[in-house]
Parts: sequence; structure tokens; C-alpha cells
Amino acid sequence: MNLIIHPDAATAANAVAAMMAQALAAQPRLVLGLATGGTVEPVYARLVERHRQHNLDFSRCRTFNLDEYVGLPAQHRNSYRHFMNERLFLQVNLELANTHLPDGLAPDLSAECVRYERQITAAGGIDLQLLGIGQNGHIGFNEPGAELDSRTHVQTLSATTRAQNSRLFAAPDQMPAQAITMGLGTIRDCRQCLLLATGREKAGIIRQTLTSAPTPAIPATVLHEHPDCTVILDTAAASQLEGLQLPGVALLTNLRK
Ligand code: PGA
Repeated sequence: MNLIIHPDAATAANAVAAMMAQALAAQPRLVLGLATGGTVEPVYARLVERHRQHNLDFSRCRTFNLDEYVGLPAQHRNSYRHFMNERLFLQVNLELANTHLPDGLAPDLSAECVRYERQITAAGGIDLQLLGIGQNGHIGFNEPGAELDSRTHVQTLSATTRAQNSRLFAAPDQMPAQAITMGLGTIRDCRQCLLLATGREKAGIIRQTLTSAPTPAIPATVLHEHPDCTVILDTAAASQLEGLQLPGVALLTNLRK
């Protein structure tokens, strides 16, 4: 696992956008795995800028999002389809038909999970997966206790996640109790992972993730098993790493230089 620490959140997001743009320019048919949440919003803003100012071309790119709430229609302002359409898909030259999220309204949710896995496989697998991290260590919506080799499944959301995300809903009780998420095994199969975490509220879970062996108690620790994973932080998210031994983690930049 590689670790890069940037001075602030804006610089970290810009660096992640640059890595994604570089991968897309090198491979126009890139299969991109995408994430939602406040942390990655500035990444999408930077990608939209690169499209507008430098003609970054998404026309042949295909995308798969990590997760979607169960029970929200696509046009609901809190659905992840809506988030992605607004922040990225409709702002660049992506074909909407090439953008994929699990269907949280599918009548048979188990069949939908199987269908989503098959779609990823049919696309040739995910080349580059963008990840955020929840304060409880979730990636996608794989909550603590998730199996490390799980595939796309229906996940009941934890109290921590409900507390973290319900503030985004008009009324907290409107937040769905379940989501469909790629599994930890699905994520581990992606060819490359970029995990972005910024802000002091992520410092504790980043310390736990980087210092712990893979354990279902901290789902993001599955990334230690990944052959090509880079964690990108700002100094606030890295603030509890000072002086720690991080076995298996290669620090690529040192801010104090
Ligand atoms: P956040 O969410 O970027 O809004 O903190 C990240 C996550 O829960 O995966």
C-alpha cells in the first residue's frame, strides 16, 4: 500500500483527479469505479474542469459506482445516481448508458446484486476504483463485520453510517436503512484503488486502517491485501500517524521536507 500526504484537502483532491485523468488519457476505454460522498465531490469538480479546459475525453469510458441506497428513485436528491449525474456524468461527455449504479428499486434485490457483478465482469473488470472511507472504516457500504471476500450484496447500514449520512436528508428518518454495495471482494478485484480521506474526523479511522492487519471489524483493511492501492490524505486525516510504524505502507511523499 502506498501513502501520499498533501498539505490540504483541495490539493489532495486535485492530485486524485490528476491520477484519474492521467489513467483515462492513457486508456480511453478505462473502466472507472466511482464513489460518492463529500470527500470526493472536489475530485469530480476538478475532473469537470479538466474536461472543459483540457478536453479530457470520457466518451469511451465506462463507470461503475460502489453503491446505491435501497428504495430511492434515481431522481431523488439523495440517490447516488442523482449525485453522480449532477457532479460528473451530465457535466462531461460520458454516455449515460456507460454509467452504472446498482438499482436500489429492483424488485428482486438479490438478483440485482448478481446482475451488477456480471455487468462488471462483462466490462472486463474495474481498472481504477476511487474510494472514500467512513468513520467506521466502511468502504462502499461494507460495514464493520462484512466478509473480506464478499461480492455485491444488500447491506443494512450501521448506526454510525446512519448518523454520518442522515444529516444530508430533508428529515433524518428518510434515510434508507439498506443499500446495495459492491463487496470487499469486488473491490479487492479492481486493478488499482485510490482511497481519498481528508479532514480531522477521518484521522482516527485512517490510523486504525493503516496499522491493522485485514479484519472484518475495519472493512478498509482489506486494502492491505490489494497489490496496487494508494491512500491519499491531507495533513488533518494523517494527523494521528505521526511517529507510527506502518508495516507494508510505503510513504511516497513527506510533507515535512
Ligand atoms: P464522506 O463519505 O466522503 O461524505 O465522508 C465517505 C464514505 O462514507 O465512504
